[in-house]
Amino acid sequence: MRVRKHDLHDLIQKKLEAAGLSEEHADGVAESLAFADARGIHSHGAVRVDYYAERIAKGGTTLAPNFRFNKTGPSSGVFEADNGVGHVAARKAMDEAIGLAQETGVGIVGVHEMGHSGALAYFVKQAADKDMVAISVCQSDPMVVPFGGAEPYFGTNPIAFAAPRMDGEPIIFDMATTVQAWGKILDARSKGADIPPTWAVDANGEPTTNPHQVNALLPVAGPKGYGLMMMVDILSGILLGLPFGKRVSSMYTDLTKGRNLGQLHIVINPAFFTSLKEFKQNIAQMVDELHATKAAPGFSQVLYPGELAEIVETDYAEAGIPIVKDVYDYLISDTVHYDQYDHAGLFAEQD
Ligand code: NAI
Repeated sequence: MRVRKHDLHDLIQKKLEAAGLSEEHADGVAESLAFADARGIHSHGAVRVDYYAERIAKGGTTLAPNFRFNKTGPSSGVFEADNGVGHVAARKAMDEAIGLAQETGVGIVGVHEMGHSGALAYFVKQAADKDMVAISVCQSDPMVVPFGGAEPYFGTNPIAFAAPRMDGEPIIFDMATTVQAWGKILDARSKGADIPPTWAVDANGEPTTNPHQVNALLPVAGPKGYGLMMMVDILSGILLGLPFGKRVSSMYTDLTKGRNLGQLHIVINPAFFTSLKEFKQNIAQMVDELHATKAAPGFSQVLYPGELAEIVETDYAEAGIPIVKDVYDYLISDTVHYDQYDHAGLFAEQD
């Protein structure tokens, strides 16, 4: 099933409004999810609507949040999200960070007590579209073993980066700090397929190829990814006085309560460090040089980190965005949600 981006946006918005979200917030979430699907980040697109709708309908998302921005220093601030939808809170917080960076060269804004915010690429792009460099990090549910551990501690804690480029779209790199997203485990289960032993561990902390025995995910590149996910939790959790590590709320434990998550946006104004024109030209030159690098056997061309999403976005703009039939059928149905996520297990399965 192929859908145009604006049609997907409308379907998502209608469903979220039916669940009880305001028009403004439903539009904000729909924009972020349609952006993700349009760039091939299907794990953070329309597939999430059923879950969000259930949480909204059950009271775990504040419908009319008291969003407040507290400027805490010349370049810093905290955006109180009041457990409203994370996508909208993080977007507004990024606007504040951009404003600070435009004035002072740097803007660092923490988002305090928010809901799930989806694909972080969306927020860093906001800054790069205004000629800023941005990094955004956020907490997610504890489902990853620490390096050498047998039980989960950190979340899949993602890191996104964007920079403006001369005569082209900003470059955007956006990754979870795990080898694979948990959605890929579910996918393997549904297909009856094995998974590589590098993705996840069983209840003893042993690598497993059986997706049904997965008890936790593995950090990317062993101790290095483990270090990065710690860094993310410190920056978006401890720094903001929020629960951290295994105390971070689970997506499915209780859909009647807010998640109290944290996110940190760091925005840097290149014009305060070098010539903006030169900066953007050099980003473009770096991309050109990467493209011109001799490709290894099996590769047709070297891409810059994150370029795959750009390529996919161009293809989908032409051909439409592929949406799984079940997800599309749900979006066009009268069902608000399927009542299937509350107190589901770590990997979104019922206990
Ligand atoms: P991924 O593994 O699909 O891609 C990671 C990055 O590598 C992307 O920038 C992608 O464009 C780039 N990439 C992949 N293959 C490439 C290639 N051949 N050449 C050049 N670049 C390439 O992404 P992952 O780690 O599964 O994350 C997916 C999304 O999940 C992200 O948007 C992330 O922000 C989001 N996320 C959100 C969480 C939340 O709680 N809000 C938690 C975890 C992830």
